[in-house]
Amino acid sequence: MQQISYLEDYRLFKLDTEHSSYVLSVTDEEGFIGHVYYGARLAADDLRYMLRTADMPGVPSQNGRERVTFMDVFPQEYPGQGLGDFRESAVDVTSAGGTRTTRLTYRSHEIRSDKQKLEGLPATFGGPVQTLVITCEDPALGLVCELSYSVFEGVDAILRSARLVNEGSQTLQLTKAMSASLDMDVADYQLMTMYGSWGREKKIEKNEITHGKHSVYSMRGISSAQFVPFLGIVDRHSGTDSGEVYGVQLVYSGNFLAQVERDQADNLRLTIGIHPVGFQWKLEPGESFQTPEAVFVYSDRGTNGMTHIFHKLYREHLIRSPYKDRKRPVLINNWEGTYFDFDTDKLLAIARAGHEAGIEMFVMDDGWFGKRDDDNSGLGDWVVNERKLPGGVKRLAEEIHRMGMKFGIWFEPEMVCPDSDLYRAHPDWAFHVEGREPSRNRNQLVLDMTRQEVRDHIYEMMAAVLRDGQVDYVKWDMNRPLTDLGSVKLPPDRQGEIFHRYMLGVYEMQERLITDFPELLLENCCSGGGRLDPGMLYYSPQIWGSDDTDAIERLSIQEGTALTYPLSAIGAHVSVCPNHMVGRITPFDTRGNVALAGTFGYELDVTKLSEEERNQIPEQIALYHRFNDLVCTGDYYRIASYRENHLWDAYAVVAADGSEALLTYVQVLGRPNARARRIRVRGLQPDRRYRVEFVEQGVSAEELHRWVQAQALPELSGQTLANAGLPVPNLSGDFRSVLVYFQAV
Ligand code: DGJ
Repeated sequence: MQQISYLEDYRLFKLDTEHSSYVLSVTDEEGFIGHVYYGARLAADDLRYMLRTADMPGVPSQNGRERVTFMDVFPQEYPGQGLGDFRESAVDVTSAGGTRTTRLTYRSHEIRSDKQKLEGLPATFGGPVQTLVITCEDPALGLVCELSYSVFEGVDAILRSARLVNEGSQTLQLTKAMSASLDMDVADYQLMTMYGSWGREKKIEKNEITHGKHSVYSMRGISSAQFVPFLGIVDRHSGTDSGEVYGVQLVYSGNFLAQVERDQADNLRLTIGIHPVGFQWKLEPGESFQTPEAVFVYSDRGTNGMTHIFHKLYREHLIRSPYKDRKRPVLINNWEGTYFDFDTDKLLAIARAGHEAGIEMFVMDDGWFGKRDDDNSGLGDWVVNERKLPGGVKRLAEEIHRMGMKFGIWFEPEMVCPDSDLYRAHPDWAFHVEGREPSRNRNQLVLDMTRQEVRDHIYEMMAAVLRDGQVDYVKWDMNRPLTDLGSVKLPPDRQGEIFHRYMLGVYEMQERLITDFPELLLENCCSGGGRLDPGMLYYSPQIWGSDDTDAIERLSIQEGTALTYPLSAIGAHVSVCPNHMVGRITPFDTRGNVALAGTFGYELDVTKLSEEERNQIPEQIALYHRFNDLVCTGDYYRIASYRENHLWDAYAVVAADGSEALLTYVQVLGRPNARARRIRVRGLQPDRRYRVEFVEQGVSAEELHRWVQAQALPELSGQTLANAGLPVPNLSGDFRSVLVYFQAV
């Protein structure tokens, strides 16, 4: 049960979810808003003692005007700048006179039974929900700040954001406006983050929190493959299934900073929001600035518990697509199959062979438009290349539709190649700085998406193609970071707004797309998982996980992605071997089994597969149809991580009512003279009995059949499976995998 209450006698705000409490207090002395507590649920006691102002030297009211010693340790809920709190601030404002001090104190509050939209930004929505809005002010600046806290019924998360309003008469410049700051007493915590690179996204890492600042961030204009807008603060003794874990994530797709600071008193200050480097926002009198939303999750059931909360929140309150709860068509994408070298006949041959094998949608990737035979030219010219596709997208789409398949297409709307008609006509539409040659990363420049006329032009070109071809699916790609930021339309004192205005422009275009084409299945992509963030999930229910399609590489990429995002959101495909990125050869069934923990599809030319592999596609698709509802709606349990143990990987998806579960086991490396491995299967209901089915498929079929006959496993209780474990055979060879299905009896 969720509840927000104001305990007036104590000047305490208490936000309760089913398993957590979040408490704030206003100090009697000067109206500072202090953070009191966030963690396991508390009773409605007088918790002001937690602020421990008594053991703080120099409480301002008792110490003349000396404020520094107090502010240096006080756990401010949204700390200002330049007045004695020398830790990371949440906000930095420059006055018209050029000074930089901010002090926000309580003015009023309101508790509402709804949650307002964040203008122009993705954010959680729906209900039942309660929201606390605390309005604070800095009269010297004429600045007002509304701190917003929402709690959805049945979800153990707190949603925070801040809105800054210039209520005064002077022009203000924001150079920092974080979404949230959170002060915590130091316990025996470690820091959990995710790092990566192109093709190597979302590797989970744990580190000590030593004194000083530790951060993950992006200043690339995209949330990036290098870091994820996520921080975990985890008890050293916690694990996948037990112990205290805090997770914080930002609902945003651009630059971010997620930081933890350990101070002189061993307290932690957690800060998350738009990265202040490269950020500036001019606030004229009467204007306001809305920060993106930050998600705070607390679990005392380990990282799996945290994962379940994020998944629930995103599934029920962030993803909007009509495809959210619909089975996605099994797709085949021609990128790795043909790259730029294709024409209508080749594509139709792939589609036909795919259709015969049971594939349901054909997606045409990069290279169908303008002059585009490699990545040197053409972006921006969203008009079909008739040499490759005579009769246009329309003819191809009609042929595909006639086969009974859906049809999808690729765009990279935010970019332009210098060698394109669009650039020749409008060179000033690309970001550039006078006197500098802009960087041509992947031979392309970034379009100035802060400009309405640029967005409109690109959008109209895209919409014409979509209407013409009755297109069912769009892959929205984005393949380079933002540099050389200069917009010919913005005045000098607003150039610092480009990074954020760019994101607002992209969000506006995607909103327009899904509004005008309500049945469209939109998949976001950013050189793989470079913009796989909660912001993008608001627009597209699935995001391409990584350009690395190797099944073994995917284990850790999908492990990190699934830490906070539901499996239904992770774009995952079967591709050919040797794998194009790492050259590894893995069995076809392992490639399929790993892709089943995502949206599932193929990224290859079916006509070039061996007969043996081609024959496995219908079997894999049957598994997809059999298990996808469970994969999309069940609770995901991480059981073992190849990233940690270098030998094997295992995870299970368990139906919310415990009636069924699917375990995926990957034996990455074969071991000589080894016995069966016992897997302790998490998440099953302890007192129910389960029928255990080793799914016999692919190269493992015969081996598994023999194993099943020899084992003759009885029906086993969830308790036995969790504690004594399920034996899985030692298979011959590397990169082998097994699916095990549990059905409650
Ligand atoms: C990067 C994407 O991640 C790939 O899947 C593919 O669409 C290429 N771009 C095309 O340029």
